[in-house]
This record gives sequence, structure tokens and C-alpha cells, in this order.
Amino acid sequence: MKEDLGKRSFVFGVAVDDYNFTDREEESKQLCRNFEMGVNTILVSQRRWGKTSLVKKACRMVDAGRVMVVFMDMFACKSEYDFYNVFAAAVLTQTASRRELWMDSARDFLARLMPKVSFSPEPNSDFSISLGITPATHKPEEILALPETIAQQKGKRIVVCIDEFQQIGEFTDSITIQKRLRSVWQHQQLTSYCLFGSKKHLMTSLFGLRSKPFYQFGQMMYLSKIPVDAWVGYIQDHFRERGCHITTEVATELCTTVEQQSSYVQQLASILLSQLMPDETATSELLHLSISTLLDTCTPLFKQQISSLTSYQMNFLAAILAGHSSDFGENAVRNEFNLGSSSNIPRLKTALLERDLIELDGRDVFISDPVFAMWLRRQK
Ligand SMILES: Nc1ncnc2c1ncn2[C@@H]1O[C@H](COP(=O)(O)OP(=O)(O)OP(=O)(O)O)[C@@H](O)[C@H]1O
Ligand SMILES: [Mg+2]
Repeated sequence: MKEDLGKRSFVFGVAVDDYNFTDREEESKQLCRNFEMGVNTILVSQRRWGKTSLVKKACRMVDAGRVMVVFMDMFACKSEYDFYNVFAAAVLTQTASRRELWMDSARDFLARLMPKVSFSPEPNSDFSISLGITPATHKPEEILALPETIAQQKGKRIVVCIDEFQQIGEFTDSITIQKRLRSVWQHQQLTSYCLFGSKKHLMTSLFGLRSKPFYQFGQMMYLSKIPVDAWVGYIQDHFRERGCHITTEVATELCTTVEQQSSYVQQLASILLSQLMPDETATSELLHLSISTLLDTCTPLFKQQISSLTSYQMNFLAAILAGHSSDFGENAVRNEFNLGSSSNIPRLKTALLERDLIELDGRDVFISDPVFAMWLRRQK
């Protein structure tokens, strides 16, 4: 493939576009099918495995003649009406052209507001809008009905994709709000939702507990790791495009070192590539040097993450690093790692789960971030 220096070879920390996107073909197709058939979807994975990138990919794949896609991020929403403002602005701007925004359903909806619209100077490009919706201007039900009204008028389906959806759990009176959303959303015929977020344990508790309003709201999709083979091909292609080389063995070691965690694979590959001159081949030694650089880069963040942990919590992590995964209650393990009483164990688990530092797989506990685990090992 021809080298394109305008494109970055490896990208991490932000959602990736097609050039930096690999694999996930089945998942993209499935999600796209769900969008076109109006199936609500909840997407869950560990951090930085590629949820946002996957949803954006599926959005690019849908048949635009039949389905309109709205993408929004709840990260900055602190209250119910914050959410409604972001929701309504996203629905209005992403389903309408500039001219249309002032017509049809939007006219009535906007009549009670004095929205601030900022147009980009370039024709056909985005515009942003701040609506100023309050309880005095609109009822929640009216705002939540907006996509369905627009879908009916246009004779198309609408999919609303909401990133960082776990934020809803932070709202005051969250359960009432969740009930409200669910009761409106589940009756809509032409509108469906794709809900996902970066805090796995919060997402799981919003959707996986029978007692919660969003229980069984839609199809749960659990992302798995991108397989080594796919990564190796992707890494080799991108090295080649920069006039460099990497053997299958070194590329495989790169992936397995970070347990195929998507973001770290890209970050480590980026560090490794930056150390090569044109026509050079990456060696295992250079890879090890790159791993040290990666650990150095992550050190401030990891230090911050452990700064708030108690000694017991640190000891619990040490026990996991030593190979324990489910036997923390046993006297020998508790004594060896100084974990406190057996009633302390569930508390330690919960505290570390809430910080997203550990993951559960059935009864087994493991450290979610492979680079954090590597860093902790080197601190000893
Ligand atoms: N399909 C993919 N192909 C290649 N790299 C990917 C892919 N998906 C994700 N990545 C890598 O992982 C990084 C994080 O991706 P993304 O932001 O989509 O993950 P996420 O699961 O939404 O993260 P978070 O849990 O923080 O919300 C990207 O910047 C990229 O480096
Ligand atoms: Mg994300």
C-alpha cells in the first residue's frame, strides 16, 4: 500500500478511524444489523478495548437511506437536564441539515427556547447548538419523544448511541430517571438505542441486575480481545508503510506483553516504530526498551492510582500478582499477604472493583490493566 504520511501509523487514547481500525468484522456487522433492525444494544468490555471505535465504525456502515444515527457522549452530564440538553441537541443537529433544523418538528420544539447555534464557517460542516432546556420549558417525556417524532416524519429509523452511559448512575434520584427513560424508550417503534460506557462494573450493575430499570433492555454484547493474528498483520502492514519491518515473532511478543489490550498494542507499536530508522527491522531488544518507555510514560498515572489505596488494598493486589485468584479467604493466604480478617476480603474486592483496578471472572479475580500489573511487579 502507498505510504501516506498524513496518517498516523498507530493511534491510542482516542477512538480510531478506518485506517487504524483492525478486525472486529463480526461485531461491526452485528452492531450494524442491530441498528438497521432497531434492536437495542448494550456494549460492554474492559477499558480501552475499543467500544467507542466499534460503535463509530458501525455508524459509518449503516444504510443511511434507511437509518439515521445520532452519537452523543454523556461524560460531562451531571444531572437529568444536562442530559436532556445534550440529548436534544445531538438529535436535532445530527438528524437535520441546517435548513431543516428550523422546520418540521424542531420548530415547535425550539419555539420555547432561545437556542444559541454556532455555525462552522465551512459549508456542509457541523454546527453546534446549546438549547437551554429546563424543567420550565420542556417535560422530560417531550424531550425523550423527539427522536421518535423525527423518525416518523422522515420515514426512517433512528439509532441513538450514548457513550459513557454509566454516568446516569451518578444523577440525583437516578433510579427514577432510569425508570422514566426506560418507560419511554421501550415503547418507541422507530427509535433504538446503543448504550455503552467505559466503567465496566457500573455498566454491568445498570443492566445486569434484575432489580434495576434497565434490566434486559436490549441485547448485551461483550467485546472480546482482538486476536493476535489480526494484530500481527496490522502491525506489520503499518511498519511496512513507514518503510520499516517487524518479524511475526517480535510483533507477537508485542501483543502478548500487553495481553492484546487494544490501546496498549497501539501505544507500544508506536513507541517501537519511533525508534527505527527507515529500512530497519524491530528487534526483541528494542521491544524491551519500548516496554520500559511505556512503563515510564504510565508511571505518573499509576502512582496516582495507588496513592489513594490502603495497605490492605495494596496487599490484596500483591496477592493477585503472586498468583492467587480466589483463595484469599484461606488463613495461609490472609496471613502471608496480611489481608486482615476474612470479612475484610469482600470489602477489599469491592473497593478495588469500584476503582476498576480488578476484574472478576466468576469467582476469579485478576488485575484488569496488564501494564499496571507489570508496573506493580517492577516496584517490588
Ligand atoms: N478495532 C481496533 N483496531 C485497532 N485499534 C483499536 C481498535 N479498537 C480500539 N483500538 C485501540 O484502543 C484505543 C481505545 O479505543 P476506544 O476509545 O474505542 O476504546 P473504549 O473501549 O471506548 O475505551 P474506554 O473504555 O476508555 O471508553 C484506540 O485509541 C486504539 O488505540
Ligand atoms: Mg470509550
